Amino acid sequence: MDLKEKIDLAKLPQHIAIIMDGNGRWAKSRGEMRVFGHQNGVESVRQTSTAAAELGVKYLTLYAFSTENWKRPKCEVDALMNLLVQTLNSELGTLMDNNIRLRAIGDLTHLQESCYSQLLETMGKTSNNNRMDLVLALNYSGRWEIAEAARKIALEVAAGKLDPESVNPDTFQLYLETSNIPDPELLIRTSGENRISNFLLWQIAYSELYFSPRLWPDFRKNDLYEAILDYQNRERRFGMISEQII
Ligand code: FPP
Repeated sequence: MDLKEKIDLAKLPQHIAIIMDGNGRWAKSRGEMRVFGHQNGVESVRQTSTAAAELGVKYLTLYAFSTENWKRPKCEVDALMNLLVQTLNSELGTLMDNNIRLRAIGDLTHLQESCYSQLLETMGKTSNNNRMDLVLALNYSGRWEIAEAARKIALEVAAGKLDPESVNPDTFQLYLETSNIPDPELLIRTSGENRISNFLLWQIAYSELYFSPRLWPDFRKNDLYEAILDYQNRERRFGMISEQII
């Protein structure tokens, strides 16, 4: 029995989030420039997205560019932006064939103009697809998102449009980038690093964390199946005790 067949489709996470890590090390181990790792990471994005959609996962969120990534050497930032533009253009067919809708979270208007306009174009063209939402986190960080939500709430309170007494976790999350996306049940990070790196800080409160040793450009469908199988073997208690879980 292959790994895919072992997955219990009745217990599939509806939202999987991935911190794609290890592109630079993958390239370096081959004596190549870091951008070679990012380029090869595109195949992993393709495989993971199609595998998730085929299984019936409803949301897949990928951490593609963090607010901290601007601190990388300019040539790497430019190469990553160019790669994003190219990939968003060249993968339109994959998105359409697999009925995947592209979405994005993050401070999108401060992306490079070419990246922002390509993103809008591909999101527009895939907007009627409905098998799975592929959510790219671009110019994103969890602290930025939470601070933005607080800023928007403060503005509404100051304008007399919002009663401060109504602010609680349920209403707060309506101001997050992910307001209409359920929290991820499973968060995967590749490359053997055991960190969250400012990703979805609010949303992963009860997510199961899975750290894969695989460098992102080597991550394939079977690696995703392994992560899902590991998740399905866990007991999620949400602060309760075992006996309370049905
Ligand atoms: C982390 O590896 C990876 C990134 C910051 C960028 C991920 C981008 C891609 C896979 C390119 C295409 C993406 C899409 C969504 C089309 P790293 O550079 O931090 O690796 P290292 O830790 O080994 O240095």
